[in-house]
Amino acid sequence: MKPLKIISTGAYIPERVVTNDDLSKMVDTSDAWIRERTGIRERHIAADDECTSILGAKALEDACRRADMAPGDLDAIIVGTSTPDAIFPSTACWLEHTLGLSGTPAFDVMAGCSGFLYGLEVAAGLLASGAARRVGLVGAECMSRVVDWTDRRTCVLFGDGAGAAIVEPGDGSTGVLASNWGSDGTLAEILCVPAGGAREPASEKTLEDRRHFVQMEGSRVFIHAVKAMSRSVRDALEAAGLSGADVDVFIPHQANLRIMDATRERTGIPADRVFSVLDRYGNISAASVPVAIHEAREQGVLKDGDILALTAFGTGLTWAGAVLRV
Ligand code: UT7
Repeated sequence: MKPLKIISTGAYIPERVVTNDDLSKMVDTSDAWIRERTGIRERHIAADDECTSILGAKALEDACRRADMAPGDLDAIIVGTSTPDAIFPSTACWLEHTLGLSGTPAFDVMAGCSGFLYGLEVAAGLLASGAARRVGLVGAECMSRVVDWTDRRTCVLFGDGAGAAIVEPGDGSTGVLASNWGSDGTLAEILCVPAGGAREPASEKTLEDRRHFVQMEGSRVFIHAVKAMSRSVRDALEAAGLSGADVDVFIPHQANLRIMDATRERTGIPADRVFSVLDRYGNISAASVPVAIHEAREQGVLKDGDILALTAFGTGLTWAGAVLRV
């Protein structure tokens, strides 16, 4: 076991709600299609003066407040995001800028929707090595800034939000029982924002071709998501010497209810163990897992001593799975 204690969690979800009916006035879609094909009812969208680092800072402040500490007490800050404030500096540094923090090492993990679980793997390593004793781990996204609001295939899926967790080494009774992570860069093109970086710098042509927005081959991503997430959970459970029936709470990445159901079915985890925030928030990418963990704790669904199974999947393609005793 990698000793790790989640001492606190926090979240920030922007106020503005966009319902499926609102979207049906913008693109050729309907509440019925979106609910049936995705399980999403509504999503929250950041205000004009908010961006990823601001959402993340609010979530981290919330987690720190609940732990009775200040963000300055952290030894490291890791932000998982695929919607960075800018190409550089990192969103983690912009988050420090927002909080007026200086001196704490801060960096991003860009692993798409798997960003929080990649960050958890990194944080566990930092705690194990002694490089940090208290890490602030954030998943934050402003997907609304990179989706094409004229493309019904993608704009109905995503939302904005942030979740955070404070992790410490703990006393050995809690921790990551088993985890795994992986990526397949050969499939980078099936879910990406093609332009705006060094590969395809911004130009009039890239703007005209709408290449600064999310492009996704939905059905291919769907198939890979189910395969990778179910495999990562099965592998983590096996490595931990557990079965699906031992899991108290299962939080898969929240992209699509059908993906979550198909993943769970392939892992043997009972249906009543799944915790979801998808219907209210849509796919909030790297924020989906920490926001769900936070809400599960707040609602008393996730309790100390529970076995928590997590998995995520995203652009890259990337995936990760972890089984923890919390
Ligand atoms: O966060 C990790 C990355 N993202 C994901 O994991 C998402 C993975 N993919 C998915 O969730 C699903 O593939 C979608 C929800 C994106 C699409 O569902 P689908 O069942 O795979 O639908 P489809 O793409 O096969 O499209 C079926 C039909 C098409 O019409 P035709 O060609 O059959 O006439 C689409 O044009 O549904 C149409 N369609 C829509 N209709 C109404 C696509 N989007 C919409 C829409 N409203 N918003």
